[in-house]
Amino acid sequence: MSTPSSASAPSADPVPRFAEPPKTPPNQTPAHLEQDLAVVRGTPTSAHKPKSILKPAAAGPDAEMSMLSERSGAGRKMGGEMQKFTSMYANAYDEEKNPNGLVSLNMFRKAANETFEVADMGYGDGITSSRRLANAMSSFFNDYFDPLENVKPEHISFANGCTALFDQLGHVLCDEGDAILIPVPFYNAYAWDFSIRTKAKVVPVPVGSMDEGFEPNSVEAYKRTVDELRQKGVKPRVLVITNPHNPLGRTYPRSTLLALAKFAEEEDLQLIMNEIYAKSIYENKDWPDAPPFVSALSINYAKELGKFDRSRLHLVYGMSKDFCANGLRIGVFVSQHNPELITTLSGTGFFVKVSSMADAIWSHILKDREWLGWFLAENKKRLGEAAQFTREWFQERGVSVARCNAGNFLMVHMGRRLQITTEQEEIAIGDKLIAAGVFIARGGSYKHPTPGWYRVTFCSDPAKLRVALERIEKTLDLTPMGKE
Ligand SMILES: Cc1ncc(COP(=O)(O)O)c(C=O)c1O
Repeated sequence: MSTPSSASAPSADPVPRFAEPPKTPPNQTPAHLEQDLAVVRGTPTSAHKPKSILKPAAAGPDAEMSMLSERSGAGRKMGGEMQKFTSMYANAYDEEKNPNGLVSLNMFRKAANETFEVADMGYGDGITSSRRLANAMSSFFNDYFDPLENVKPEHISFANGCTALFDQLGHVLCDEGDAILIPVPFYNAYAWDFSIRTKAKVVPVPVGSMDEGFEPNSVEAYKRTVDELRQKGVKPRVLVITNPHNPLGRTYPRSTLLALAKFAEEEDLQLIMNEIYAKSIYENKDWPDAPPFVSALSINYAKELGKFDRSRLHLVYGMSKDFCANGLRIGVFVSQHNPELITTLSGTGFFVKVSSMADAIWSHILKDREWLGWFLAENKKRLGEAAQFTREWFQERGVSVARCNAGNFLMVHMGRRLQITTEQEEIAIGDKLIAAGVFIARGGSYKHPTPGWYRVTFCSDPAKLRVALERIEKTLDLTPMGKE
């Protein structure tokens, strides 16, 4: 990676920046900041009302019009205030670049070392991330997700991990008891991330076998679930689709993505596409016609379906998987046609703001396009090699491996080889392996409907992977077929 430039170095930055603020004569406050300064001075004027994109908060006749939960009203109001307050920092004073800018005496500044800029030690110039990261992130989406419309920094809200985003989204999209639909099997943490504090209800949708869940007609199972919920008086609000899928490690065909969006439109659901594994697609010679990854950002739903309200479409991405950096804690939320939702997330944005160090690290990575291109290609190649090695290892031992082309794990079915027919037996095998010093996640923990499946993560140091596989072989007596 190239060395990040220092604060005063001339900008050779290929990433587009926010527009330069208008030049203002010395000693005169720029007109567009007058109202924001009123808030800082503690003298908000009647002119300083949230703009009209903010629908009225919570109760009242207009509450019905909003797509967001009633309880999100306070966040919506606060979000408007926060966005105005931080807009001041777009015009921050700089001796050379912006001598007429705003000097904030409100922030504590400390020295930075050579790698990070002084600004990296402060609260930064945005609510949930720096503007630099928002710019770099939008360029990343525009370069790698083939969006129908360019992703702009103002379409993005960040959090310290997708986990925190799920909590926020459960809060602002649902009221207590409202339903979030997720097809099974699913990433097990959804069950609590979306609901533990928000009291929204995560409802598993039984879409059938592994292959059936990727078919366009799987929407029939979603429809049955929605009808059952409505009969019970439960309000379905959100549909969450993880593409590429975790734990199944594969991509959805385009036709199924269209069918799911149509369903969300017909049932008036918010559609959250979790694409956290988008850049972890690899080639599998056993599945040459695997569907290519298609980002929801790239599909012209309105054209293909005749009707689609894009304000219901949201995307989740993060640093944890494709960048193998889950400790840095960065989650990204993109919503291109729902400024109300982005504003509302700003209201609690400071609760989950990305740390300035993580922000600086990812900004530098994303801006180093040469390195980024190399890294993504190398990652894809290595994932493919590790997946093939692991797949063949299990296949040689009579253990079938589910179709996979994405993610850093694959699903193996030990049911037949080990005669597992119940969840208790599946748990017992899992426990036996833990006692022998190796952990693989059980399918049941993802609500997989058939006992005997396990998720094996192959993205590991090769030496460690070998140790784990040797332990599995020894503990379960899984000698290669023909060598028993
Ligand atoms: C589908 C999916 N979403 C989100 C996460 C967690 O993301 P983060 O580390 O950003 O909280 C994971 C982690 O395993 C995941 O598999």
